[in-house]
Amino acid sequence: MRMRASHSQALLILLLSSLIAGAANAEPSRDPTNKDCHPGDKAALLAIMAALGQPEPPYPDNYCCDWYYVICDDLGRVVGLELFQHAELTGTIPDAVGDLAHLKNLLLHKLPALTGPIPPAIGKLTDLTMLRIFWTGVSGPVPSFLGALKKLTFLDLSFNSLSGAIPASLGSIPNLSGINLSRNRLTGSIPSFISKTADQVYLWLSHNNLTGPIPAEFAAVNFAHLDLSRNALTGDASGLFGGGKELDYIDLSRNSLDFDLSGVVFPAGVESVDLSHNAIRGRIPAQVAYVDDLRYFNVSYNRLCGELPTGGKMPEFDLYDYQHNRCLCGAPLFRPCKK
Ligand SMILES: *[C@@H]1O[C@H](CO)[C@@H](O)[C@H](O)[C@H]1NC(C)=O
Ligand SMILES: *[C@@H]1O[C@H](CO)[C@@H](O)[C@H](O)[C@H]1NC(C)=O
Ligand SMILES: *[C@@H]1O[C@H](CO)[C@@H](O)[C@H](O)[C@H]1NC(C)=O
Ligand SMILES: *[C@@H]1O[C@H](CO)[C@@H](O)[C@H](O)[C@H]1NC(C)=O
Repeated sequence: MRMRASHSQALLILLLSSLIAGAANAEPSRDPTNKDCHPGDKAALLAIMAALGQPEPPYPDNYCCDWYYVICDDLGRVVGLELFQHAELTGTIPDAVGDLAHLKNLLLHKLPALTGPIPPAIGKLTDLTMLRIFWTGVSGPVPSFLGALKKLTFLDLSFNSLSGAIPASLGSIPNLSGINLSRNRLTGSIPSFISKTADQVYLWLSHNNLTGPIPAEFAAVNFAHLDLSRNALTGDASGLFGGGKELDYIDLSRNSLDFDLSGVVFPAGVESVDLSHNAIRGRIPAQVAYVDDLRYFNVSYNRLCGELPTGGKMPEFDLYDYQHNRCLCGAPLFRPCKK
């Protein structure tokens, strides 16, 4: 378990640093030549803070590019707004955020008193590459107008109280390759909402109430990291696997998936596979023993049968990875296979 955690942290750092590098092409800096930002941006910032119950600018010098939550580009345009860990910021996301016309990076994080829906004003921010609103009290739907933010590469709306269905409009954002909607109250079936042009997709949808099948179109998405755990998904997930895929990490645990595992081929580079707590049938493919990078493999609490593969990496996996299946047999399980 420890290995799995550190691995996904490493992936995360890699993902975030590449996204930040991608978003930094205008070389925003915290010490631009123009210390005072554009007057329109300054008015918007003051309106935002006033709406959140913080009327005073954080520094007496009044240079808004120096304010600790602001990032400017060299021309003094506000390209980043990062408000986090602030229990006193109270209210809804102010409409004035939509007036920061050059904003590329919006972060609202650990703001428990920030409530209400994501306002349509966010849809005006067409330069946004990173939109992160997580660990807040924000509720309402994941708005379909987010589909208008064509430059988005990373969307994190995790750990909020969002409800309703995932909007299919996100599928029209060509380079959106990191999406985290986990730990909300999302319902309905998953639409085919990943653009075909997105590469190396990282998707987290865990801890929601999503139902129905995994969209067939996901078989053609180039996932690197896929977490659909702890929902109520049904049907076939075998299309997510296959020898040629670049998948690193897949967690489909705690759903109601029902398919035959016998013919599944695991990608050569996959490191972590969690299929536990589903209704998966058939046998464990012998190929599992020879997936070089595989470090975590859990198929417990399913309906699998037949002899466990032997050799290769199999000795690295333990009893608890196979427990509670219909009729698996062979070591390390206590049930011997009938010869
Ligand atoms: C998507 O990425 C490609 C390749 O980096 C780039 O040429 C294109 O402009 C991007 N599209 C948008 C809408 O940002
Ligand atoms: C997405 O949310 C999950 C919580 O389910 C968290 O573990 C993961 O680190 C988040 N990823 C990013 C990139 O924020
Ligand atoms: C999912 O739905 C069930 C029953 O409607 C409810 O009890 C549960 O709290 C919901 N889970 C989430 C994460 O919203
Ligand atoms: C595999 O999943 C089961 C069920 O969630 C869990 O009890 C077990 O500890 C997991 N195995 C390992 C090695 O973590």
